[in-house]
Amino acid sequence: MPVNLEGLTDNARKTAIDELNARLADGLALALAIKQAHWNVKGRNFIAIHELFDTVRANLDAHLDEFAERVQQLDGTARGTAEIVAETSALEPYPANLTATEDHLREICSRMRAHGANLRKGIDTVGDAGDEATADILTAASRTADKDLWFMESHLEA
Ligand SMILES: [Fe+2]
Repeated sequence: MPVNLEGLTDNARKTAIDELNARLADGLALALAIKQAHWNVKGRNFIAIHELFDTVRANLDAHLDEFAERVQQLDGTARGTAEIVAETSALEPYPANLTATEDHLREICSRMRAHGANLRKGIDTVGDAGDEATADILTAASRTADKDLWFMESHLEA
């Protein structure tokens, strides 16, 4: 095990690796759904929503990179292939037939809300196991998920 991780129990390390990989799978599924929305969206406020989806995707990607690299620091294997994501993501499958801005916003928001909820549970799981650094990484991702959910949901207000 890398020297800088001395003091971290084996249980803390394994719990963090599993949690990071689970949230990585959700995040990668969500990242693809956001691009699906960015590419296919049409209708009211088109350009604002089209560009917002790309901003949200970029914000999400930065955190997913942190998750996968933290797995490496913990001496684990990042699990980010399409096949693993399809098998393990906790998010609902994204409908491939949507076009209207409201439909894409509603579906992406619903999955961002689920991702945020899973991140909050993950913060407690890894914190209780004793890996505060991973809890901090998940906390940062959770903050971004909440903020981007707010940005997107604001477009759905009547
Ligand atoms: Fe684009």
